[in-house]
This record gives sequence, structure tokens and C-alpha cells, in this order.
Amino acid sequence: MQIVRSSEELALARSQLSGSVALVPTMGALHAGHLALIAEAKERADKVAASIFVNPAQFAEGEDFERYPRSEAEDVLKLEQAGCDILWAPTVADIYAGGFATKISVGRVSERWEGEARPGHFDGVATVVAKLLLSVRPDVALFGEKDFQQLAVIRRMVADLNMAVEIVGVATVREPDGLALSSRNAYLSAEERQRAVALPNSLRLARAAILSGEPVSAALRDAKQALVDAGFLRIDYLALVDASTLEPLDSPQGNMRLLAAAVIGTTRLIDNLAF
Ligand code: PAJ
Repeated sequence: MQIVRSSEELALARSQLSGSVALVPTMGALHAGHLALIAEAKERADKVAASIFVNPAQFAEGEDFERYPRSEAEDVLKLEQAGCDILWAPTVADIYAGGFATKISVGRVSERWEGEARPGHFDGVATVVAKLLLSVRPDVALFGEKDFQQLAVIRRMVADLNMAVEIVGVATVREPDGLALSSRNAYLSAEERQRAVALPNSLRLARAAILSGEPVSAALRDAKQALVDAGFLRIDYLALVDASTLEPLDSPQGNMRLLAAAVIGTTRLIDNLAF
């Protein structure tokens, strides 16, 4: 696997690739969820590029940018084993060179849920993903359904700006007990880790209740109570939404998704569930 840092090195490496190219953008601290994206990328393109960049622009003041786990040496081994061809691991100065002043802001689909809880987050995500896509020029780029709203924001941006790339969503990889794999799970104490499983469990509870005809408001209230009972300190949202617009639904209709974000200890976890 070739490792490149600056845009110039990347451009040279990219020009030497033949055939179709897939891109898997990440912030590193790689786990089996990220590696599922690499595996799917290998199915869909001749060559696979991954990026590792902990993007300061998508973290607000007081969030976990400084303590976000960084493990490049281990990540390199995992990517090599997974058959990745190129790793682009730029520095902050490589991405945001002096004078950088552009921001991509995707409306509507970014406004609720994570967008409300983390103002500015999706501007940071959209801007860096646009830069990664324009730099690598992949035929296909893969993103996890784990970050369901992020996937919707990126699809919107790519459609609105006529970016010539296919966006592929990959199903969430979970621990055996159901907790979605996340780099942030590393923040959980052993005891919090055990209780964190209430997050996927509460979503399943809500889905079962909604499918059995319970009113949506009652199903969501009971699921939130289950999170509180498990020791989650704050629930940012637990909602039934339209899977493409992410607008909230108060009765079951069409293609739906359950979305949730909640805090246990000092760790904020997100998850979502299809119907
Ligand atoms: P990061 O959190 O590192 O995630 C990189 C990619 O892996 C994202 O597309 C995410 O949805 C996916 N992913 C994470 N956990 C997963 C799981 N359990 N199962 C399947 N896929 C999973 O998301 C980001 O980085 C950043 O916002 C980024 C898109 C790189 C822009 O900075």
C-alpha cells in the first residue's frame, strides 16, 4: 500500500492508478465497520483508496477533537491486510492551507438531529468530503449507514453539485450484543460499555412497538425511558423519520428510519435502525 500525505503526492499517485477507483474516507482508529467499507470498495472498483484525516472543521469548540483516538500505525496494518492500494493521510495544513476560506453548506437534510445538536458539524463534513472527492476523483465512494444523516447529506451534496461519483451506503457493523462499532466506543468504561447496548435495544423496542401498531409517540417515549433507565444522562433525539428527507414522522408511512443520539458518562453515541 502506498502512503501519501500532500495533495501533490496524492495527485501523482492518483495519476498512476489505472481502472476504476473507490474512495473510503475515514478519521482513522479503524475498526471492523471501516473495514467492511474497504471490503465493499474492493468489490466495486479495481483500486481502493482510503483517507485518514481527523477533520477539525467538523468538531465544535469543546468537542473531542483533541482526544479523538489516533492510531495510524495500526490503521496502516489493517488497511494493508484489507487490500487497500493507497492511503491518503494528510496533515491539517495539507487540507486547510493558509487562506482556506471555502465552506460547503447543505441545507434541509442537514438541519435537524445531528445538525441541531452539533451546529456547523455538517458544513465541516461536506466541505472536507467535497475536497477528498475532488482530490481523489473516485468512481465510487463508500460511507456507513452508521452515520445515516451524514450519508444523506453527502448524497444531497453530490446530486446538487453534479459530482461524478456514485455514493454507496454500507450497513452498520455491530458488536455481538448489538452495539454499533464506533471509534468513540473506546471512551466507554467497562461498565458504561455494558449499559450502552440499551441504545440499539431501545431502537429495536421502538421499531417492534411501531410495527405492532402502537402510536409512534408512545413507542418513542417508552424507548427514551429505556435509555434513561439504563443510565443515559441526556437524549439529544430519538425519532422516527422519513429515510430520504429525514423529516420527522408521527405515524408510520413509506420508507422510515429510527434515529437516536444519547450521552452515557461523557460519551455521545449515535445509532439508527431500518424498518
Ligand atoms: P469515521 O467516523 O471514521 O467513519 C468513516 C466511515 O466509516 C463513515 O462512512 C462511517 O459511517 C463508517 N462507519 C463508522 N462506523 C461504522 C460501522 N459500525 N459500520 C459501518 N460503517 C461504519 O464519518 C467520518 O469518519 C467522517 O465524518 C468523514 C466522512 C471521514 C469526514 O471527515
